[in-house]
Amino acid sequence: MNKTAAPADLRTFLTAAVRRQRVVGAIAPSSPALGRALSAVVPALGPSVVVELGAGTGPVSEAIRARLAPGSRQLAVEIDPGMAAHLRRTKPWVETIEGDAADLGELLAGAGVDRVDAVVSTLPWSLFPGERQERILAGVGRALAPSGAFTTVTYLSALPLAGARALRLRLRSAFDEVLTTGPVWRNLPPGVAYVCRRPIVR
Ligand SMILES: C[S@@+](CC[C@H](N)C(=O)[O-])C[C@H]1O[C@@H](n2cnc3c(N)ncnc32)[C@H](O)[C@@H]1O
Repeated sequence: MNKTAAPADLRTFLTAAVRRQRVVGAIAPSSPALGRALSAVVPALGPSVVVELGAGTGPVSEAIRARLAPGSRQLAVEIDPGMAAHLRRTKPWVETIEGDAADLGELLAGAGVDRVDAVVSTLPWSLFPGERQERILAGVGRALAPSGAFTTVTYLSALPLAGARALRLRLRSAFDEVLTTGPVWRNLPPGVAYVCRRPIVR
């Protein structure tokens, strides 16, 4: 269970999850264990720029922050206005951008960022049509520095679904290296993390 979310975080998450099931795509905020697994790609040495896609109420943002070195920039893209406002209020150390991850290039340009060292995603990929998955992955590939890395999660319950299968194939076409880590059992539901390096799609 993801028992560590603050009550206000949980309330905001569950309200959005009930009202916008086809956007949120999860039944609970990520656990600290999943946050740590996903943010393992965040450089811990030296200042870096990291962007999170689908930050929700910010459990993974906390794990990213725990790794970041002083002088780093931490940005988060969140499409749901309620969650973006909550994130701004409760985690002012994140540069929250209310917007669509499919517009990543424009959103980063607006924040004065042209390259990022890591992209961490908990986007609900299996809810996205193929074209949208491709557009987001292409944007991630263009945003990443050559030594950068991208991580994302798929819940074990979603692994057999067509959307998750399509995502795996797309990740393998978009990146030279795709590693599967986990499962992370201490999450509701448990999930695997994909760690992707060297984008092919640019
Ligand atoms: C599975 S929830 C994860 C939330 C949070 N990161 C966590 O781990 O608890 C997915 C999040 O992605 C957001 N989202 C969905 N589609 C998005 C998009 N196209 N661009 C940005 N955020 C999106 C949802 O509003 C939701 O907050």
